Amino acid sequence: HTAKLYLDPAFTLAQVDPRLYGSFIEHLGRAVYGGIYEPEHPTADDMGFRRDVMELVQALQVPIVRYPGGNFVSGYHWEDGVGPVAERKRRLDLAWRSTEPNWVGTNEFAAWCQRVGAEVMMAVNLGTRGIDAARNLVEYCNHPSGSYWSDLRIAHGVREPHRIKVWCLGNEMDGPWQIGHKTADEYGRLAAETAKAMKWVDPSIELVACGSSNAHMPTFPQWEATVLEHTYDHVEYLSLHTYYGNRDGDTPNFLAQSLDMDQFIRTVVATCDYVKAKKRSKKTMYLSFDEWNVWFHSNEADKKVTPWSVAPPLLEDVYTFEDALLVGCMLITLLKHADRVKIACLAQLVNVIAPIMTENGGPAWRQTIYYPFLHASRFGRGTVLHTPVQSPVYDTKTFTDVPYLEATAVWREEDDELTVFAVNRHLTDPLRLTADVRGFAGYQVKEHIVLVHDDLKATNTKDHPDNVVPRAGGDARVEGGELTATLPKASWNVIRLA
Ligand code: AHR
Repeated sequence: HTAKLYLDPAFTLAQVDPRLYGSFIEHLGRAVYGGIYEPEHPTADDMGFRRDVMELVQALQVPIVRYPGGNFVSGYHWEDGVGPVAERKRRLDLAWRSTEPNWVGTNEFAAWCQRVGAEVMMAVNLGTRGIDAARNLVEYCNHPSGSYWSDLRIAHGVREPHRIKVWCLGNEMDGPWQIGHKTADEYGRLAAETAKAMKWVDPSIELVACGSSNAHMPTFPQWEATVLEHTYDHVEYLSLHTYYGNRDGDTPNFLAQSLDMDQFIRTVVATCDYVKAKKRSKKTMYLSFDEWNVWFHSNEADKKVTPWSVAPPLLEDVYTFEDALLVGCMLITLLKHADRVKIACLAQLVNVIAPIMTENGGPAWRQTIYYPFLHASRFGRGTVLHTPVQSPVYDTKTFTDVPYLEATAVWREEDDELTVFAVNRHLTDPLRLTADVRGFAGYQVKEHIVLVHDDLKATNTKDHPDNVVPRAGGDARVEGGELTATLPKASWNVIRLA
């Protein structure tokens, strides 16, 4: 099989917003307690944060981390998480049927983000709360001093404001599972009024309104249209979420699900532009794909967890090699929409459907999905090129004309670097890739990284943390203005030219 890419430096799509490589930490399971924070851990720092986890996060160069939820935020009182830790309330978290001890809250999380080099993306509770709690939180976090909430922050030992730039107006408010679930009109009105008050406190913030929880919600995409009718002038971004799984063991169909993500993005862009036209607006709405990943392995185990525990193991998906391939396809899909998708958050970051796993008191290690995310975050910054693909295709029960080759390219002109990201979805045959690179005169292959494994179900575990790891042994080369490479069967490839 052969496939062809068209690469031309004149055909640029967009600058990649670094926030495309964001992630997410929710008060859920062992994401916070036992994940980023474990004061008794041998690697704990002065604030109780695990240094081993921080190092794995730092390597990913995650620029922004969404917090504190997720479903959790829709019942959260942020005031419970600030002030002297010994006086903090233990609360029932109805979203995950856990007990929240509030040992970590806004100030601790902001400090952790600073230590890993990330910005906070803060979500406010629009489930059980509203305008007042949200505007107070903006004042607590961002107002320098001289008001009740900003002075309270200073009294809590944080003199400098956190200057949190990006704020989510609630979470998945279209979902019946959400605490305080609302209709599109109810949510749209509340989001618009909350947005106004938050921006009156700090006009420099950017806001994300809730889109649908996934493209298969019964209210999609009317939800988006209605919410935007209310919020268009008050927000900068509309959110998208999606998770995929391979419940029936149909891998060709599983790997094609990034096509669903692609169509989801196209529909949301179209809906945003419809409302733009209707409002005769000059403003373009951007997208925040603030939850995306594979999630299904842990579904059964989660039903057996003891209710009201503190930090029980929840959503602890152990990712396979094939999951890493779909995550690679999803990263390529996000890049292909970098003109409209400005923020994206891999959900989540540690233990909970995460690239990083830990054992309480024990080691931390990289799951399979860590690697495509690492490569995209490190090498996928610059200008995305329009990269038409000519590839043989296949059909599955859900999709027609699925290209075996999923690919895109990012060009960093200032460093004279071009990186091709490519997945071969074919499970038994290699793909012979060619691309005309005469537009990139003098560029040679610097590195061809490949992630492959004979077993699609291979995993990385505590005892075998390096079972699935990338290697720099690909055969890509440039000769006479042509790039050629063999993409092994079922593989993730990073071809770096310079
Ligand atoms: O990321 C896990 C959960 O998935 C989040 O809490 C929720 O927003 C989504 O349904």
